Amino acid sequence: METGHLEHLYYGPSLGDSIQLSEEALLHSTEVLEERREFPGGNMISYDEEHPALTLEDLCLEMSSYGKGDIREPFVEVIHADGSFTSDFLFERAEVRSEKEVLQTLPSAYIENSTEEETGVELVVTLRDVQYNLCLKLHYCIFEDCNCITRSAKLINDSSEPVRIRRLMSTMLDFPDKGYCMSVFHGAWAREMDRTVIPVQAGKIINASYTGTSSSRANPFVMLHPESTSERTGLCYGFNLIYSGNHYEACEVNAFGKTRFVSGINPASFSWLLEPGEAFETPEAVMTVTGRGFSRMSHQMHRFIQNHIVRGPWRDRIRPVLLNSWEAAYFKIDENKLLKLAKAAKNAGIELFVMDDGWFGERSSDSCSLGDWQPNRKKLPGGLEQLSEKITALGLDFGLWVEPEMVNVDSCLYREHPEWTFAIPGKPHAEGRHQRLLDFANPAVVEYMTEQMRQVFRAGKLSYVKWDMNRIMSDVFSPYLPAERKEESAHRYMLGVYQMMKALTEEFPEILFEGCASGGNRFDLGMLCYFPQIWASDNTDALQRVHIQEGYSFGYPLSTIGAHVSSSPNHQTLRQTSLETRFHVASFGVLGYELNMADLGRAETEKIRKQIELYKAWRDVFQRGDFFRGRNGNIHQWTCVSPDKKRAVSLVFQEQAEANRTYERFIPRGLDNTKIYSVYNIKTDLDIRQFGDLVNTVAPVHIKQGSQLHHMLSKFVRLPGEQESFQAPGSVLTRVGITLAPAYAGTGLNENTRCFPDFSSRMYFMEEVSEEPENKEVTKT
Ligand code: DGJ
Repeated sequence: METGHLEHLYYGPSLGDSIQLSEEALLHSTEVLEERREFPGGNMISYDEEHPALTLEDLCLEMSSYGKGDIREPFVEVIHADGSFTSDFLFERAEVRSEKEVLQTLPSAYIENSTEEETGVELVVTLRDVQYNLCLKLHYCIFEDCNCITRSAKLINDSSEPVRIRRLMSTMLDFPDKGYCMSVFHGAWAREMDRTVIPVQAGKIINASYTGTSSSRANPFVMLHPESTSERTGLCYGFNLIYSGNHYEACEVNAFGKTRFVSGINPASFSWLLEPGEAFETPEAVMTVTGRGFSRMSHQMHRFIQNHIVRGPWRDRIRPVLLNSWEAAYFKIDENKLLKLAKAAKNAGIELFVMDDGWFGERSSDSCSLGDWQPNRKKLPGGLEQLSEKITALGLDFGLWVEPEMVNVDSCLYREHPEWTFAIPGKPHAEGRHQRLLDFANPAVVEYMTEQMRQVFRAGKLSYVKWDMNRIMSDVFSPYLPAERKEESAHRYMLGVYQMMKALTEEFPEILFEGCASGGNRFDLGMLCYFPQIWASDNTDALQRVHIQEGYSFGYPLSTIGAHVSSSPNHQTLRQTSLETRFHVASFGVLGYELNMADLGRAETEKIRKQIELYKAWRDVFQRGDFFRGRNGNIHQWTCVSPDKKRAVSLVFQEQAEANRTYERFIPRGLDNTKIYSVYNIKTDLDIRQFGDLVNTVAPVHIKQGSQLHHMLSKFVRLPGEQESFQAPGSVLTRVGITLAPAYAGTGLNENTRCFPDFSSRMYFMEEVSEEPENKEVTKT
């Protein structure tokens, strides 16, 4: 603008699809978008005498500050040396660069082999507050392959006096209208990613974390969309932040019906002292938009994460099927028990054996030893070296659990270095799982713990590491920092942790890292820059996992979502679900098992062996395909389609059964309309015990339910399940769908009936019908 402010004109679905506009025509079209103003509104602030019509309160801006008339959520708030907190950043210059700048202190998105050289890939706009000589750089980077833009900001103190940053956001987006809903993903431990849709008609909605982590309470991924947007139609904006600490997303509608969205580090209890000559950089925010519904927005975000966030050799590798010892044995582990478990795992086709918590120090409960990363010799007489050798000799890879950011008060490390934890000296401390946060704002702590982990990873010859973090912050206070910098503690903690993660992941590129924080308490893009997958939730109940994984799928690809088959009744809900259902749901993620396989009978082991075999034949589709959500009442219909659309696999999962609801139309989305597909399910047989005393309606003698006779008969008499097998064009499947075999309705059961009680599920497989059968990539299992 004439004054030097940056007016925001438009961000939405592409306007240049149908016609090629010349540069001149483009300039004219921006003129049309500029807001026209002739006079100030009543009771509003004019920018200055020269520009009486410029009222910042009611203008769409690229960034804003407080003090010159804009009274909405500011982008930046600085306290100057004279005590003033008014800022006014005006345009100085803009440049387009052909390479993306890498953030110095934080993880950021990357562009591999940039082909954008001619058009440029990053725009840097420099603004200056001339009154105080502060420079603000706004970075915009385009990712054309996935239709995403990242934004970050850098504040440089060019003055001769220190300033205090109270807030510096990563992105800000102003809309000239209102009527958007904000979809947020709230939750708690074992209840992550519960989507809530909040209309923002007036006032402000805030989605934020104040836990020191990105948190299960409010994930940094959010969407803005009209109420009418559906999976396949309508406008949808997606936003996320490449950050794992306290974050803040606010959506505000002002008095004139304009909407503002901001996202960045949570300004609550945050400030940063910026000395002359110093710079402060914000995390990168990512934004994407589509006019074609939630699914398209998800695919854009998924591609961004797969191509520009996840990195290292494991980015494109197929992920192994693992067995984790946690729900199999909890803290009660020793070498013999682990080897027994590992042998059973190997028999079932597991590829990677993971020893979870309990292997170090005196750790037999969660009350001690975090910080003492030496193996417990009573449990592991030959240490990590010997266990690792024995596991790998079985033909399994070996992986380990660690929690490097924490220390128990009952530990040698704490006794030696009590000053290395977040704590206010002389004041009582709030407790969480009997553990304290190490002070990663202190470089000595970063260095010490990086070396400890280095030694553990080397000794164990590890192929996999599960990196856990089990308490949120309280008594936030880095003893290392001077009093005037205490509000930097939480952010500096994250910077220290990132530094350690970077060093270790670069030194051990062959290790597959899986992030974890009491499940999904730190499921975010910052973590995914180092760890290609994250344990999504400590809740392994199939029903709740459907909701949790569906929630994640809005913003994150399935290849990042750790999902395990555990025992039934489930340890978190005590709900009973079938082994099939547990497998079906966990397959729509990175599949693992977490139950005592050594205790399973032959039949169950055999079932698991077949499951793993099936998963291995289809995991490239699960892990690399495009994911489509679908729903019909309480029946979820998910589909993964391979990138070439030759193969697809669907899940049909029912929450609660309703009597006399036989009809179900199954619509696998995302297929190629021009291809013909063969569609089939895996035929299973049914356990007669599932029918209780209904067995007596067909049995020649009376069978008492639950009797030995009932159990014995169930071994020999099985009821055949339905078989679906047909061919159909992709256009019919995707646009209309197909009617499944009728479900049992309180009456009628034969081999063409779909027996579908509570929490039942089926997988349907689709393969392009090939002219030449020898080209078929996978045969039916
Ligand atoms: C919390 C994790 O989410 C669990 O999977 C398990 O690793 C425990 N910590 C171990 O203490």
